[in-house]
Amino acid sequence: MMTEHDGNNDDLSGGPVRVVPIALDERSYDILIGPALLDRPATWQGLPKAAAAVIVSNETIAPLFLARVRAQLAPHYARVDAVILSDGERYKDWDSLNRIVDHLLATASDRKTVLFALGGGVVGDMTGFAAAIYMRGVPFVQVPTTLLAQVDSSVGGKTAINHPLGKNMLGAFYQPARVIADLDTLDSLPPRELAAGLAEIIKYGPIADAEFLSWIEANLDALLARDKAALAHAVQRSCEIKAWVVGQDERESGLRAILNFGHTFGHAIETGLGYGEWLHGEAVGCGMVLASDLSVRLGLMPPEFLTRMRKLIERAGLPVRAPRLGVERYLELMRVDKKSEGGEIRFVVIEGLGRAGMRGAPDALVAEVLDAYCD
Ligand code: NAD
Ligand code: GLY
Repeated sequence: MMTEHDGNNDDLSGGPVRVVPIALDERSYDILIGPALLDRPATWQGLPKAAAAVIVSNETIAPLFLARVRAQLAPHYARVDAVILSDGERYKDWDSLNRIVDHLLATASDRKTVLFALGGGVVGDMTGFAAAIYMRGVPFVQVPTTLLAQVDSSVGGKTAINHPLGKNMLGAFYQPARVIADLDTLDSLPPRELAAGLAEIIKYGPIADAEFLSWIEANLDALLARDKAALAHAVQRSCEIKAWVVGQDERESGLRAILNFGHTFGHAIETGLGYGEWLHGEAVGCGMVLASDLSVRLGLMPPEFLTRMRKLIERAGLPVRAPRLGVERYLELMRVDKKSEGGEIRFVVIEGLGRAGMRGAPDALVAEVLDAYCD
């Protein structure tokens, strides 16, 4: 667990640093959240020592932040390289993964080499997977630059690439050594990407914290306006809830599946339309409407819950109607979901405000949900 920041937080220029610990025995680490983190030397102290660091980023993010990160890493590593990938969900594939591995091998990088994932969830998931498999595991650090990555994908150690037949189907559980969530990086995020991040923030309310759901409703306008205090609270609370879940079920043998509320429908939308058509967060936002409807149809929640979720998701600028892929196609896609067991689709449903569970549902009921929400 990192200590350099303890008792030092208020001395750092640019505002206080919030530290959320992830408690996983010898794999424990800290999430640092705050403004101006990239340029603070303290952010980069105490990381694993090595001869070389490799920053993995993409062609959009590198011009914005790469030079600053490289400058901070230079005093700590004799060699600091960069691998710049193409931008987009459609490039979360074997070819991009190979580009990272090719670089590591071509530069004779040893097993202490530290990888830095500078970007959103796509860069983070791929860099983490590369770190997990290169020489059976090298350390890596997440530097998330999207709201979605700061509240979800950079935390908890799920790493993956997509397969044409299924989202995130190839991957590993592999924890980072630290997560550095600089809120200032969100200033350049396109509005559509901000909304996508809000979807994963909204998710934490119904599954784990009814009070947080009310807080999001009351503060959504501030979040949309990128108010730093509101963002700091939303990122911190989201990470605390994720830390609580992952601390109990790191490898998703049970509880962790609740973090996939809205994802069964969402992944089907992403795979069915082709990666990159809808943003992941958009698909999750819409998926949460469908999963809320299913929770109501299963008799677990009152209809007002669905109205509340739909209104919030719509206010966040996210789609609440699903693409018309056809019921059979949806069912086929959802059977490939990692939560499926023996061909039965398992959905995360809300069983009470702030409480989620896993259920199967008859195809006919799922078809009713799809009929109600597909354009
Ligand atoms: P992304 O990584 O594609 O980033 C979104 C877009 O914003 C990209 O075009 C990117 O280049 C750009 N961008 C990033 N930071 C920017 C900045 N500061 N300023 C301007 N532009 C910036 O998408 P995402 O929403 O961050 O992540 C989605 C991915 O995360 C999906 O592949 C999803 O499966 C994965 N995910 C993983 C987990 C997990 O637990 N590992 C959880 C949720 C989502
Ligand atoms: N985003 C789901 C998880 O981390 O388990």
